[in-house]
Amino acid sequence: MALSPEPDPGPPAVIELIDVKKTYRSGTLEVEALHRVSMRIDENEFVAITGPSGSGKSTLMHILGCLDVPTEGTYLLSGHDVSAFDEEQLADVRNLFIGFVFQQFNLLAYMSAWRNVELPLIYHGVHPAERRERAFAALEKVDLGDRAHHKPGELSGGQQQRVALARALVTEPAMILADEPTGNLDSASTADILDLFHELNEEGRTIVLITHERDIAARAQRVIQVEDGNLVPAGVELLATGVRP
Ligand SMILES: Nc1ncnc2c1ncn2[C@@H]1O[C@H](COP(=O)(O)OP(=O)(O)OP(=O)(O)O)[C@@H](O)[C@H]1O
Ligand SMILES: [Mg+2]
Repeated sequence: MALSPEPDPGPPAVIELIDVKKTYRSGTLEVEALHRVSMRIDENEFVAITGPSGSGKSTLMHILGCLDVPTEGTYLLSGHDVSAFDEEQLADVRNLFIGFVFQQFNLLAYMSAWRNVELPLIYHGVHPAERRERAFAALEKVDLGDRAHHKPGELSGGQQQRVALARALVTEPAMILADEPTGNLDSASTADILDLFHELNEEGRTIVLITHERDIAARAQRVIQVEDGNLVPAGVELLATGVRP
């Protein structure tokens, strides 16, 4: 009898966490912020991570973003085991694989939009002419081609966040990791940013969005709910709130 074919492995995982624990120690006090968390996020997924204050979202985001390492367990990012990397190796991984978007935009005030966007490419050693070209293309992508020479202070909050998104995109990272990206925006700019995330996702990008706002999380393809340092299994939360799937 012929052997049955291998099961289809599906799309490759960008993120795989296996039994990840994070314990913070200050003096004699220990706080276990994540208890044996396992999950995977596949290429081209758009996932929201949500949960109440203190549940462990930022802790998880710091690990996913290679800003911190797990106390125990394994983190595979695009197949690389980054769990035990030192500061320098983590910095390299961040530059190579992750585009960050933060609540506070984090743009350099004295540089024009396109200079802000080209910054990550300097770390990548890209030639100046190509840097400029790619920075302008990324600004076009977020509909800010006509604001390339403006400084952050000359742009609205929503426009500043679009510049930050262009900066996250310009290196073609394996994933975009956004931490409360709409936290400082009005509802119109929030809608613009969410539309852009959807557009980027449709073009094949993996997006991980951390938010405590449930209506924003609901716009992702999949919601990962964190509670007290654990992931809530899919479906449980819907039952708990009485919402029918
Ligand atoms: N550096 C730290 N040292 C000690 N405990 C910490 C540290 N950072 C976070 N914690 C604790 O870990 C738990 C999870 O915190 P975390 O910041 O991940 O929550 P969060 O879900 O991001 O909350 P919020 O929505 O308020 O930002 C909390 O109990 C918090 O007090
Ligand atoms: Mg937080």
